[in-house]
Amino acid sequence: MINNTVGEPADTSLLSSPLLRGPGALPRQRQLIQRLKQAILAGQLPAGGKLPSSRTLSEELDISRNTVLIAYEQLTAEGYVIADRQGTRVAPLSAAASSAARHAAPAAAPSSATATRLTRIVSARHAHDGSLPMTPGTPALTQFPVNAWRRAQDRALQTAPATVLGYGHPLGEPALREAIAQYLRVSRGVRCEASRIVITEGAQGALALCVQLLTNPGDTAWLEDPGYRGAKSAFHAGDLDVVAMRVDADGIVIPEGAWTAQPPRLIQITPTHQYPTGAVLSLTRRLDLLARARRAGAWIIEDDYDSEFRHQGEPIAAMQGLLPDAPVLYVGTFSKTMFPALRLGFLVLPEAIASQATPSIVEMLRGGHRLEQLTMAAFIENGQFSRHLGRMRRLYRERQAALREALAAHLGIDHEVLGGHSGLHLTVRLPPAFSDVGIVEQSRRLGMNPSALSSFAIAPLAEDNGLVIGYGNTAAERFPALVRRIRDLALGSRRDATADARPR
Ligand SMILES: Cc1ncc(COP(=O)(O)O)c(C=O)c1O
Repeated sequence: MINNTVGEPADTSLLSSPLLRGPGALPRQRQLIQRLKQAILAGQLPAGGKLPSSRTLSEELDISRNTVLIAYEQLTAEGYVIADRQGTRVAPLSAAASSAARHAAPAAAPSSATATRLTRIVSARHAHDGSLPMTPGTPALTQFPVNAWRRAQDRALQTAPATVLGYGHPLGEPALREAIAQYLRVSRGVRCEASRIVITEGAQGALALCVQLLTNPGDTAWLEDPGYRGAKSAFHAGDLDVVAMRVDADGIVIPEGAWTAQPPRLIQITPTHQYPTGAVLSLTRRLDLLARARRAGAWIIEDDYDSEFRHQGEPIAAMQGLLPDAPVLYVGTFSKTMFPALRLGFLVLPEAIASQATPSIVEMLRGGHRLEQLTMAAFIENGQFSRHLGRMRRLYRERQAALREALAAHLGIDHEVLGGHSGLHLTVRLPPAFSDVGIVEQSRRLGMNPSALSSFAIAPLAEDNGLVIGYGNTAAERFPALVRRIRDLALGSRRDATADARPR
């Protein structure tokens, strides 16, 4: 029976069953501590109840008195019991603490708002394995100059002072921010100084930071449709109201009434190479969007994720640089130019908010991955980065050409190839009779990893049926066989295929 009277001896029957002995058993001291803790938390030893003396307990359990004394000392140190001249008593745990411990149910289920947020963020992606051929957005990992990178990293470690192992500048290593600023001014036409650059955990970290800095839950964010799923999840994580804006051959289309009906706080776009359709946002739309966003007090997030790999014509300059003080947060990443696991991206803050936002960002972030950042800075400064880009650009052109040829020669189905002037993927639109999701599911079983165009759409239309095929990580000579495999799967996935296949 349990004794609830404060100061009375606690019921010790639960302490009298012998402790385990022999090979595999926990040390007896540990067993005793665990048993006492469980009994106290479960209320079997109530607050104020006196524990048996160390002598009594050692005799009952047939263990040394010292073992009991050490166990009591440990429980005293952790606040389970109080030792004084009258002996050792169970500490008065608060009602909430003991009831929480007694009803050791799993953590509370998320509130409905949290549950809604989490279901919105569920990924449509099944395979994170970028090594499978045709994965969109994965660069040629096997061609990365691993030795040069390792040497640069060794050099950075050897030459940096020991303080490089401590926290760095929260906005990122000054050397890298300087190198990026220079690169962006020259290669992308971005207006920026190093002081406005924040190094982030990839583009994804930059998107999350934009949401944290500039929005409140319930604000409206416009997204390209079809569009980048990472942006959608960053917006949902901030409890923003996501409004889908269709995309055509000239990029995002904003219906006239949208500015008043659903005024945005954020507008996410990929103007240089729309993801995944490959459209380039026309100059008229760029200028219009900049003017309207400025008037509406909205911020444009320009996600410039893969424009370094321009395959036709002159590079398309960033939208951020079109006007002085444009209402644009420019986002870039080294995931395509270097490798995704590097997790280095960057955000260029607009002049209008830089001085106000910087002190907050300094407080919100911790400067880490310093060695990688210093190595990246050296890679840019000593020209290895631009040499690597040049090599990869040539390789990707070759691979894209091979994919186009294979599609033309072997797909054998009516299709339209979208995009391809930049980047690492082509989008192949298919007639509605072929299920893109079905083809993609089957193709994973056969070791290929294209994405379904419809999975990027917020409200898919018939025209959003197709395959987003990466060529960055796939050797040119593999495409004929891979495309033939896709053709076979596509023919099998025809929505009327079961009818056709039925014996007559
Ligand atoms: C549109 C777009 N933005 C950004 C990224 C890169 O994100 P991160 O830098 O977080 O790897 C990708 C990668 O697939 C992308 O497709």
